[in-house]
Amino acid sequence: MIVAVRDALFGDIPALAALEQASPETGPVAIEVRPRVDHFRLAARYPGVRGYVATAPDGPGIVGMLFASVAPTRLDGELVPGAYLFDLRVHPRHRRRGVASALIGHAWERARAEAGVVVAWAAALAGNVASRRTFRRAGFDQERQLRVRMVAPGLSAGRPAVGLAYRPAAAKDLPSLAEALNTHHAGHQLWRPVTGARLADELAVLHHAPEDVMLALGPDGGLVGAAGAFDIGRVAHLRLLGLRALPGGANWLLARLFRRVPLRPLLVRPALLPADGATATAELLRALHRRSPRTTPALAVTIDPLDPAWPSLARLFGVSAGIHLLARSDRQIDMGQPWHFS
Ligand SMILES: CC(C)(COP(=O)(O)OP(=O)(O)OC[C@H]1O[C@@H](n2cnc3c(N)ncnc32)[C@H](O)[C@@H]1OP(=O)(O)O)[C@@H](O)C(=O)NCCC(=O)NCCS
Repeated sequence: MIVAVRDALFGDIPALAALEQASPETGPVAIEVRPRVDHFRLAARYPGVRGYVATAPDGPGIVGMLFASVAPTRLDGELVPGAYLFDLRVHPRHRRRGVASALIGHAWERARAEAGVVVAWAAALAGNVASRRTFRRAGFDQERQLRVRMVAPGLSAGRPAVGLAYRPAAAKDLPSLAEALNTHHAGHQLWRPVTGARLADELAVLHHAPEDVMLALGPDGGLVGAAGAFDIGRVAHLRLLGLRALPGGANWLLARLFRRVPLRPLLVRPALLPADGATATAELLRALHRRSPRTTPALAVTIDPLDPAWPSLARLFGVSAGIHLLARSDRQIDMGQPWHFS
């Protein structure tokens, strides 16, 4: 099929929402997402964003979409232009005809031509075979598996970490938080340096405030940890449609059970988790959780097992799932350093 790709326009917003609903994430966990805010607003949480849509040759309708965020990115200790690709969706009636490949190819070429990107990457949840294969076919052949750790901080035992104090952040803390995040992630592949203003913008786009970020402070008042809770429920209505890994009957029962229950996972971002091997991470997450007591007790942290904070996180009560980061670059990316995903 010959696919035409063009920039997404504000007038496309209703068509993008319809496409999103028609194309739930493929994989073993089926989740319906009904955004409460439009795609452009949501995409603006990332810097340098552009949206692309694919139209079929036989009609004006939109059959696919993809967003790209281009910004300075850490790669092997250097700062280079990088593109994060997200929100890839193709209408079920138009799949396996090269629509996604055309969108990815277009986004890569544009980012190369306009910003000279050296690396582009995307994420696919473990089990989303279609997405993973699509990116691999498009040249995203450097791959690393991160963990999404869902923790229930209230259920995690542990002695309090000595000498640390916890408090919500204020607007004036954001510049020093940005500096601490940049220092902490200097050795992480795909980290994109932030500023206090960028953190403030991101929180506002997601309907959050600086107070939704908890800080852990050492005895001298210095910042040793931080974690923000992004409540997806504020920008989208999520429903679990079923677990495809279960046999048909069990899946059907589960889908009925969850039909009326909205999911409210809290994504932890930004995250600056103390690598203390003790309980400071648990306490930070507990303090964060206490700020949203009416939500489900699960906080989701995405982290590379090479990150020094992973051992403390893995020890907390919870479950883990895999998420693949797939990257395209002419350079061979060093796998000995942790990769970052937010
Ligand atoms: C993933 C998705 C975007 C793929 O779109 P698409 O237009 O069908 O992809 P393409 O036709 O460009 O496929 C390119 C290649 O990827 C692989 N591929 C795509 N879908 C596949 C599937 N369901 N199973 C196995 N391989 C698949 C194939 O190798 C394919 O090439 P081929 O058809 O010549 O064999 C689409 O399935 C989708 O919208 N899924 C739901 C939303 C989603 O999960 N998005 C990804 C979020 S990260």
